[in-house]
Amino acid sequence: MRLSERIRYVGVNDMITELFERQWPLPFGVSYNSYLVVDEKVALIDTADIQFEEEFLSNIKAEIGERKIDYLVVNHMEPDHSALQSAIRREYPSCEIVTNAKAAAMIEGFNGITEGIKVIKEGECLPLGSVNLRFFMVPMVHWPETMVTWCEEEKTLFSGDAFGSFKVVDKSVIDSEPTTFEEYEDEMTRYYASIVGKYGGPVQTALKKLGGLEISRICPTHGPVWENHITEVVGLYDKLSRYEASHGVCLAYGSMYGNTEKAALSLAEALKARGVECGVHDLTKENYSFALRDVFKYDTVILGSPTYNNGIFPPVRQLMQGICDRMVKGRRFMAFGSFSWAAASVNLLNEMAVAAGFEILNEGITFKQGYDPAKFDAESLSSLV
Ligand code: FEO
Repeated sequence: MRLSERIRYVGVNDMITELFERQWPLPFGVSYNSYLVVDEKVALIDTADIQFEEEFLSNIKAEIGERKIDYLVVNHMEPDHSALQSAIRREYPSCEIVTNAKAAAMIEGFNGITEGIKVIKEGECLPLGSVNLRFFMVPMVHWPETMVTWCEEEKTLFSGDAFGSFKVVDKSVIDSEPTTFEEYEDEMTRYYASIVGKYGGPVQTALKKLGGLEISRICPTHGPVWENHITEVVGLYDKLSRYEASHGVCLAYGSMYGNTEKAALSLAEALKARGVECGVHDLTKENYSFALRDVFKYDTVILGSPTYNNGIFPPVRQLMQGICDRMVKGRRFMAFGSFSWAAASVNLLNEMAVAAGFEILNEGITFKQGYDPAKFDAESLSSLV
């Protein structure tokens, strides 16, 4: 598909994989984006997931026919983009791989390729004829070898995972109707929170480094090509990587026999009655990435966990650990939950929240055995938010 006379989209949609990185659900699928720059020389930017070799090679042929690929630019080595490097080498034996020194070592490690690799440095230029490609390192967005590629003449940034999103691009690859920013915002936030969320500092560094480039098209490795909503997607990345959040609540809980759940639902009702935006997540039924998305979205985290093995109920502990691993900052926090004979979960959650630097809204509500609305004052708890 043509993004311009010289830039073509040759990516694929994946509606087969259930779990991205074998851990993140894909209810709307995901795309692996790859691009051709067709000039006097032909450059391919990144490849695709291993499952899609036939479709990917056919997409390339549909754009360039029997022309050969002169360069394969490797921005990022995670296998969702690098697994078909050997297939490209097999189909286009003279194709030179263009990448940085860290990625070159990974190409050998993952794919055993050591020959025909041109190692470039920060800011170096690769002329293709009428256009040039220039390379900038953006370490930890998402791996240490990650770089982006900028085509000045096309004002196009091939941004790797940055500005990427879960959800296939099946309507329009470019972000024009019916492909809108709003349609992707939630899945872009969940992608960021799950995968890039730990690297807020490196994302900020990258945004500053790339801020001076003239860009009217962002071509990420997942999700739509951004032409019409660049301000919104860059703004969202800036906000997420600063750990800035809107006023609202991520209310997530786990419950074995429904007592902590009843407390959670009564609190959710009280919050909604006050007009507080609130994402409610039953962690025993859904993957914690959906709650993580709302942790990045909202300024208040409220977790409900019964005491289990004298600790935090495992699905809730997984979320809290995920929040701590991502070094989320600046949240307000509250915990609650039932216990059968000894209370531990709320105190342990509070300890983790204090270590994360969160503001503790109260010491938490813990209740023995059955849920009793008279002992769990959802109304007054909701007034703390
Ligand atoms: Fe889409 Fe970090 O790879």
